[in-house]
Amino acid sequence: MGRTSRKPTGIFITLEGGEGSGKTTHARRLCEWLRTQGLKVLHTREPGGTLLAEQLRNLLLDKSAETIAPETEAWLILAARRQHVDHVIKPALADGMTVVCDRFSDSTMAYQGYGRGLDLRVLETMNDWATGKLVPHLTLLFDVPVAVGLRRRQQTSSQNRLDREAKRFHEKVRSGFHALARREPRRITVIDSAQSLESVTQTVEELVMNWLKTHHAGKSRRR
Ligand code: TMP
Repeated sequence: MGRTSRKPTGIFITLEGGEGSGKTTHARRLCEWLRTQGLKVLHTREPGGTLLAEQLRNLLLDKSAETIAPETEAWLILAARRQHVDHVIKPALADGMTVVCDRFSDSTMAYQGYGRGLDLRVLETMNDWATGKLVPHLTLLFDVPVAVGLRRRQQTSSQNRLDREAKRFHEKVRSGFHALARREPRRITVIDSAQSLESVTQTVEELVMNWLKTHHAGKSRRR
């Protein structure tokens, strides 16, 4: 798939959160549930989602990589995003699909902006450039205390370069996400992800069900 000029008609949902917030599990569960509701769903992630973007992800998250400057990190992430938006997300939305994306622009603001300390306005401009100003319709922010999230991550074998940052970095990321949610309360909903998996799943399904009823009744109903 390449660039598309067709008008997007699908629904764009993003899942955000710090390390160990459970968003990846909930993205998978949400996709399964949306399919039972008759929606045609594309599950994808960032950084990643295309061959090139997945290669950039590997470079970014590689634990043995040389020290990466915050600006380099941002450029690589945004380069991956442009590929993903052009080749995967926009064409799927133009086809009327529901796109569920594990991380998107809010992660860049939280990690590279609030976490690394890059200028938020510059990042916003760069991000607009990378996305062609594509903004999710709905964003679920999975929130857990940093200590809980990092403990969960330590229990898995999939630790990456950013997991290894100091607790203070992750605290800045978390409060960055909170600041973004305060700024855009209509788009971003905070979910207490310290609850049990089942309880969070139920919260997500109820929330998305209500959102669909209010915003997208009768839209894109096909498998
Ligand atoms: P995860 O999706 O498995 O959580 O890992 C992706 C990592 O990449 C995570 O540590 C956050 C980081 N990241 C950023 O720093 N900025 C971004 O814009 C995105 C999408 C991810």
